[in-house]
Amino acid sequence: MLYIGIDLGTSAAKLLLVDEQGKIHNEVTKEYPLEFPRPGWSQQAPADWKKAVFEGIPQLLTGFDASAVAGIGCGGQMHGLVVLDEGDNVIRPAILWNDGRTAKQVEYLNRVIGKEKLSELTANIAFAGFTAPKLLWMRENEPGNFARIAKIMLPKDYINYSLTGVHSCDYSDASGMLLLDVRGKCWSKEMLDICGITESQMPKLFESYACIGTVTPEIAKRLGIPGTVKVVAGAGDNAAAAVGTGTVGAGGCNISLGTSGTVFISSSRFGVDPNNALHAFAHADGGYHLMGCMLSAASCNRWLCEDILKTADYAAEQADITDEKLGRNRVFFLPYLMGERSPINDTDARGVFIGMTMDTSRSDMVQSVLEGVAFAIRDSFEVAKALGVEIPRSNICGGGAKSKLWRRIVANVLNIPLDSVVTEQGPGYGGAMLAMVGCGAYKTVQEAAEKLVSIASTVCPDDGIAARYEEKYQKFKKLYPTMKSLFQTLKED
Ligand code: XUL
Repeated sequence: MLYIGIDLGTSAAKLLLVDEQGKIHNEVTKEYPLEFPRPGWSQQAPADWKKAVFEGIPQLLTGFDASAVAGIGCGGQMHGLVVLDEGDNVIRPAILWNDGRTAKQVEYLNRVIGKEKLSELTANIAFAGFTAPKLLWMRENEPGNFARIAKIMLPKDYINYSLTGVHSCDYSDASGMLLLDVRGKCWSKEMLDICGITESQMPKLFESYACIGTVTPEIAKRLGIPGTVKVVAGAGDNAAAAVGTGTVGAGGCNISLGTSGTVFISSSRFGVDPNNALHAFAHADGGYHLMGCMLSAASCNRWLCEDILKTADYAAEQADITDEKLGRNRVFFLPYLMGERSPINDTDARGVFIGMTMDTSRSDMVQSVLEGVAFAIRDSFEVAKALGVEIPRSNICGGGAKSKLWRRIVANVLNIPLDSVVTEQGPGYGGAMLAMVGCGAYKTVQEAAEKLVSIASTVCPDDGIAARYEEKYQKFKKLYPTMKSLFQTLKED
């Protein structure tokens, strides 16, 4: 049988056609636009996601036996607020995970409702990208739209709804709404009240690998697939990527260098970071995870190369960066192009280059961007270590991890070996694996991971380079605290 895995990302939907032995038969990528209507705001049209997936599926199946498709699983960008009216029409563009417009609502939730209360109800505190503050923002700034809300969902849930007509959400993605009682795996009545919504406006909750329904007859006809195709609830993209790299069960770690950068620590037991710097979410394997998320990771390199240097040849930009240069760069970069989530939780933080001299070269600046992202990943890594979590090694995935140099920099900055898996396809592959479990090809997500995921290569740290990076990290660590108050004065109203 064949399975379709969808990675509903921020810049594109990536679709994979996978068989139950894990072989990838085809892949299709469909890009869509991202709107920044004001500095720090970030929106997307759900119709663009739907178009990408609905055009992508027939393309993915061209030349293959579409009647062999058994299931579809989606891993989607998290936290995005999708609101539908009574007739299931989208009310406004989705407000995305990296949108920083809700500073005031975050302040209200964390200060007035209080971090302790939020953590007690949801295992997390408010961050600008989370869904609950966006609802408060809508209530305050778009009361007409707010009054029309009949259903609230997350980006991949809109795709699942479009395929099946079922309003669903899985626990891993729902965890990032700040509306879920993560430990109890149910909507928090108190949080819904705080946001002025009712449970009837929320989708039905499922485990990520549970089947929410089959595609509707019209969709089956339109996409050229059997009406028996099952759709699983799917997962937030980080949980799906973790499944795709085999980071399931207790004690695994996955680092993702995508548009965002994440450190994902899987656990079979529920646990909360007492300072809430790391998110405490449900995992797609039925367990839990802790996660640090930085808002701009591979997107910093994309911004520098494509928007500033006007090149898409990333490899050429990195060609001069030899081992000799690692840990010796005098230029530092703070990667806060969209503000920052973990661990500093500051929507006012901004990107900064510092330390340039007349002999600073283009490649020093490229290197500083790769390093700045690695240092910011280390910030979350340090929080996890301070909680007593042992991370002797990690998987690494995402677009940025395709660069061997960047993997080498991250391995040395964290001073641990980093494994890349054979089927390095992140959330899409994880989505397909969840579909296999939902269709009964594997009993559990763990079993699917054991059978389907294997390590392709490992990048190990080098003692000398790691020691040089240790010194650099100690310097990097001082930059944000020094600039924090300055960022507030730069803020535009
Ligand atoms: C995680 C997060 C991002 C998005 C990116 O909390 O906000 O990783 O899921 O797609």
